This record gives sequence, C-alpha cells and structure tokens, in this order.
Amino acid sequence: MKTRVYIETFGCQMNVADTERAQTVLRSSGYDLTASATGAEVILFNTCSVRARAEQKVLTRVGEVAGVAAANKSSIKKPVIGLLGCVAQLEGEALFNQSSAIDLVVGTRATDRLPELIRRSQEGERRVIDLGERDWGASWEVSKVERHSPYIAFVPIIEGCNKFCTYCIVPYSRGREQSRVATDIVREVEILKSEGYREVHLIGQNVNSYRPKLTKGLDGFDGATPFARLLRSVAATGMERIKFTTSFPRDFHADIIKAMEEHENLCDWVHLPIQSGSDSILQAMRRGHTSRDYLRRVEIIKSARRKISLSSDVIIGFPGETPQDFKETMNLVEQCQYDALYIFKYSVRKGTPSARLPDSVSKEEKTERFLELEKLQQAIQKKIYADYVGQVVNVLVEGESAKSKKDMTGHTTCQKVINFPANNNRKGEMIRVRVSEAKPNSLYGQAV
Ligand code: 5AD
Ligand code: SF4
Repeated sequence: MKTRVYIETFGCQMNVADTERAQTVLRSSGYDLTASATGAEVILFNTCSVRARAEQKVLTRVGEVAGVAAANKSSIKKPVIGLLGCVAQLEGEALFNQSSAIDLVVGTRATDRLPELIRRSQEGERRVIDLGERDWGASWEVSKVERHSPYIAFVPIIEGCNKFCTYCIVPYSRGREQSRVATDIVREVEILKSEGYREVHLIGQNVNSYRPKLTKGLDGFDGATPFARLLRSVAATGMERIKFTTSFPRDFHADIIKAMEEHENLCDWVHLPIQSGSDSILQAMRRGHTSRDYLRRVEIIKSARRKISLSSDVIIGFPGETPQDFKETMNLVEQCQYDALYIFKYSVRKGTPSARLPDSVSKEEKTERFLELEKLQQAIQKKIYADYVGQVVNVLVEGESAKSKKDMTGHTTCQKVINFPANNNRKGEMIRVRVSEAKPNSLYGQAV
C-alpha cells in the first residue's frame, strides 16, 4: 500500500503554494495524500513564524497528533512527524529537542526533496534535516500541480526578502530575494489558462521588487520596472483575472498603475502595507519610506482612471510607539480609506533587530489601540461597502458559502467577498452580481 501523507498548512499564500508543490512532488513519487491526519503514516506541518502565536500553534498541533498516535493502540507504528516552512528553516536542529515527536525538519527551500527525506525517516534514520537551497525549475511540471482551487492559482514570482524591516523574521526564514525567470512565470500562466483556471495571484513577499537575473521573457514588453514589464507580459496571456500581492511601498512605481489602466485583466486591487503612520516609528522599523512617500503612492493609486481597491497591514505597539505615534497611524488610516486593513499586535521575533529593544507598549495598551483602530476601520469599511449597493460586480463563483448552504460565495475583481443565492450557478463560472446589501466584511447580492 502507498504511504499516506497528510499536510497541514499555516501562514501566508507562499506556504499554500509550497504545500501545493510538496503535494505534487510527493504524489509523483508514489505517495498518497490524505485530507486527515487520522491514519496517515506521515504528518507534515507547513509552518509560519511571522508572529509568536503562529509558531506556538504548530507546536501545540504536533503535541496533539503525537498524543493521538500514542493513545491509538491499533496503530503499529508512530507516524513520521515533520515540520516544513519558516519555523523549520529558523529553528533547524533545535526543534528535535523541543519535541521528541518531531522526526523530520525541512526548510523553506527544500520541499522538492521531501520524497527522499520521508523515505530516510521511514527507514529509521533519526532527526532527518534539510535546510538546503531550492532548485528552481527542476522536475517542476506545472500541469501536474495540485492547487488549492480548480479556478484560482497562486504563482510565486519572487521568493524571500532583502528589506530587513527591524521587526520581521521573513528575511531570515525565507532568505534573500530570488526572482523567477519571466518565461517560466508566463508559461505557467499559459498552462493554467489552457487548463481552465480563471484567476492567478502572482505572489511574493514583495512582488514589485521583482528583478530576475535574466530579462528573458520581458524583452518584448515595456515598463519602468521589471515588475511592470512582467505585469504586461502576464496580462498578454489573456488570463481572465490577474491579482498580485504583496507590494512594497518603496518599490511601488506609478507604471504599475499605468499597466493596470491598460489591461482590464490586471485586477483593481493593491495590497500596500504601511505598518505605521508615524515617521519615527517607520524609521525605527527601517521601512525606507516616510508617511508622505507612502501617501504619494496612495494618491497615484486613487487617482487611477479605474477605481482601485486598496488594502494594508498595520503593526500596533512597536517598541517606543507613543500615544502620539499611534494617533498618526489613526490619521493615516483615516486618510487612506482602506477597503481592508489587517491589524497586528507587535510580536517580538528572536533574532530580529527590534527584539533587542524593550517591548515598551503594555499588553493592555496594545489591545486598547488595536480596538480603537479596528473601530475606525470598521466605520471606513461600512461607508466603502455601502457604496457598492446597487452596483453590478463581476464574480468568480468559488463554491458554497461556509455560512449558508443556500448561498454561493466568490470574490470581486477588487478582492471583496460576495455571497449570493445559489440559483443554478456553477462553481468556476464568471457571473455578474447586483449588490443588494453591505455587511461588515462582505457584500450580498443577486446574479443578474
Ligand atoms: N509582529 C507583528 N506583526 C508582524 N508582521 C510581520 N512581522 C511582525 C511582527 N514581528 C505583520 C506585518 C506584515 C504582515 C504579513 O505581518 O504587518 O505586513
Ligand atoms: Fe518582512 Fe519587511 Fe520583508 Fe515585508 S518587506 S517580508 S515586513 S522584512
């Protein structure tokens, strides 16, 4: 019988894409993938380390599955338990001492070697570890990739990060920026299109820092930056919807917006994290831009010929954040009128420069500021969402709504969740929906 492997994924879209890649490699090497940990001979956790909570959660899950395996007397052999992804890359060997249940540690760029690593572990080798580099392109068959959706695909274009914001662990867990060759990206999108995919997300920690070693594939496309040229070349594939995330403010060139104006299939949504509205905090975070620089980018986005949705991330309670600094964040959020905002309480990450600073904002203050900012964002969103009532939006039908069986769900081109009565809509269809109601985080409407 084939070895059954179960993979549980935490964290960002890059981890989702890595899991998809791991599953593909495993299946082509003769492994079976299962949807549940129960009965699996191999249990893998693809981990996230961006905040302490995500890291703790995975160790709790390791304890849980190891406990279940120990209690289940019918299982002859304990399953192989492995950690993949960012926590694996950062903690390495040390993880084996954190939990004796962990057999396998596989770094962020070693997923392709999983079949061999699992085999070694199953043969009895203890503490199997691989923190090595990725071999882009090797044995990588796009058409065989098992995606999280049959209509929407994540396509990594750049991996890692060179920005070293002082609070952030990503440059250490994901390594330096490495851009994929444009021809590979475009080929992947073309194959996806021929297979019936209707939406792709070009993903990376900072997509707009895209800078491949070779310009192969970009030569026929104009643009002020390699990313703007890539956008135009991907748009030319005719893929119906193209989204991209995350954008880094300092590298956000106006030509991106120009490309979006030229190509309808470059969707009307930009995710541009600000992190703080205070210039002294931005400087302490080493973001490389001021609030004014950021607002200049926002102005370009907001004055586009086509209305473009804007979303952002904010960190609350960075070391030294005073009530005045926080007020500046509130003001900036008010000014930007975001369609969505992800608010995070500052979390100390060992090994980052800001971990050496005293975590000066108390837990209570962080919570207070968090709630205040959340309240402001809710009010902003209420207004923005209410404006959609009466409008007709294009929706890709993704499936049944989690809340009600009678409804289906999808996203607009501007990345808003929208639900609507099922009425014979089929999954994967592109439909038009008239918005009848605005909810706090979603829209509701009827197909027209
Ligand atoms: N503490 C809190 N939030 C963080 N983020 C990154 N590092 C930290 C940290 N140490 C947030 C940032 C980033 C998002 C993905 O996670 O807002 O944009
Ligand atoms: Fe982290 Fe900054 Fe890189 Fe984003 S740009 S991944 S916040 S270091």
